[in-house]
Amino acid sequence: MNSLSLNNLLTAIYDPLNTIYIKSGGEITSQGDPGIIGIIPPIAPGNFGSKTFRKEFNLRYAYVGGAMVGGISSVAMVQALSNLELLGIFGASGLAPEIVEESVVQLKNSLAIERHFGSCLIHSPHDPQLEERLIDIYLTHGVNLIEASAFLQITPNLVRYRVQGLTELPDGSIMAPNRVMAKVSRLELAKRFFSPPPAKIVNALLESGAISRDEANLSQYIPMAQDLTAEADSGGHTDFRPANILWPSMIALAEEYTRKYDYLHPIRVGVAGGLGSPQAFLAALDLGCSYFVTGSINQSCVESGLSAPARELLAKASQTDVTPAPAADMFEMGARVQVLKYGTLFAPRANRLAELYRQYDSVDEIPPKERESLEQKIFHKPLEEIWSETQSFFSQRDPAQLKKAENPKYKMALIFRWYLGQASRWAINGLTERQTDWCIFAGPAIGAFNEWTQGSYYEDPMNRRVGDVALNLLYGLAVLKRFSLARDLGLVPDELPLPLKPLAPEELAEFI
Ligand SMILES: Cc1cc2nc3c(=O)[nH]c(=O)nc-3n(C[C@H](O)[C@H](O)[C@H](O)COP(=O)(O)O)c2cc1C
Repeated sequence: MNSLSLNNLLTAIYDPLNTIYIKSGGEITSQGDPGIIGIIPPIAPGNFGSKTFRKEFNLRYAYVGGAMVGGISSVAMVQALSNLELLGIFGASGLAPEIVEESVVQLKNSLAIERHFGSCLIHSPHDPQLEERLIDIYLTHGVNLIEASAFLQITPNLVRYRVQGLTELPDGSIMAPNRVMAKVSRLELAKRFFSPPPAKIVNALLESGAISRDEANLSQYIPMAQDLTAEADSGGHTDFRPANILWPSMIALAEEYTRKYDYLHPIRVGVAGGLGSPQAFLAALDLGCSYFVTGSINQSCVESGLSAPARELLAKASQTDVTPAPAADMFEMGARVQVLKYGTLFAPRANRLAELYRQYDSVDEIPPKERESLEQKIFHKPLEEIWSETQSFFSQRDPAQLKKAENPKYKMALIFRWYLGQASRWAINGLTERQTDWCIFAGPAIGAFNEWTQGSYYEDPMNRRVGDVALNLLYGLAVLKRFSLARDLGLVPDELPLPLKPLAPEELAEFI
């Protein structure tokens, strides 16, 4: 193929909605030419992922903006995604139930009736009443999709949500109004969501009158979660699983469980973790995912609930500017999150607290020099003051915590959690005097995205709109898919990379 033909071909590949007819020698020709030897079909960015997923949630694209704690995936972000027929999940975790209620009502009232959205339900082992309260809110306001994350087991509240409203349709299929999109990183946890709701919990709910006998019976024919997101190395809670190992195993397991329980509708597996470039989307697609979930990249967008100066830090991060740190909610069990290390010292400080927690059984055991250093460098206050703030917080919100804190180790955990939790709020609110303590959850996807957008319109975080970002990635995926077809046809040299920069919104509009 001569270089003119190659250039013409590459130019044509960038418009994924046209058909390319190729004749011998690699030249582009038009339809009807008897010398055609190959065709590269149009590939619309809306074609990717599961059709039933798009249909069920009335989407144009099988693309989900995952939940981000504390309203980082904000009402505005969910609205922006939803208006473009992408799916947004509100970041309800870490917010007071009244705020969650206000936000889901706002979403319900502002989105077109046919648009869907989800809200997060994060497992809160320290506060089971919170889970109950949130489920009540979701059921009362008809929030028909929850993203259930960090669950180690299926809880009665999850089952109550899933099972209430189950109805048998005249054709024998089951209508399940409440959908659970589970997010897990481990196969053994996935099995729980791929199975029907546990019979023991279903029976207890039936006895308590929370569900009807029909609902209880029907529940045994559907999986706990029709959709499950396999989360590889990502921002937020993460197990640091490699995507190319986790995703195919999860997809195979979903297929196995669909057969095992003879479900009418196959379980769908979406993928999350590391999706920050069109190349990563191509890998996810080729591994067979039903939908894509992004997080870290959305956090750097203007609709994000994160403060502008923190978003600027994110927009400068490279792939290696993220590191593990103890998770505020479950650090005692060794749970970790992945955070930004560029421009903040949160990770080493949080690790120090986790280390002290392992070493000592109460704050009083911490040697005076060490304690003084903690008070000056990390807490900026005497630990007694932190404890009295913690007491007044929990005496309103959850007095049972104070009872548990009669155990000095638990009291130490609550004091340390004050810092681990506040550090995220300082970043969200952009509290500059606490910048070195900002906890900004992020995975390496943000580095990949920054690399991809370097020198483009999107290098500046003020130009990052969550919808433009999503559509650019899907556009890039369509282009790459066509490029790989051209390669399969032997039309482009193996070593040739395709220069693929993101398009500014007005350029993108032509191809979407
Ligand atoms: C700042 C931040 C907060 C997150 N908070 C939550 C959360 O509250 N609940 C949840 O299910 N996932 C949460 N996640 C995970 C995302 O929803 C998404 O699954 C993940 O970020 C995808 O991987 P990526 O970061 O590599 O894009 C969070 C991620 C980030 C970056």
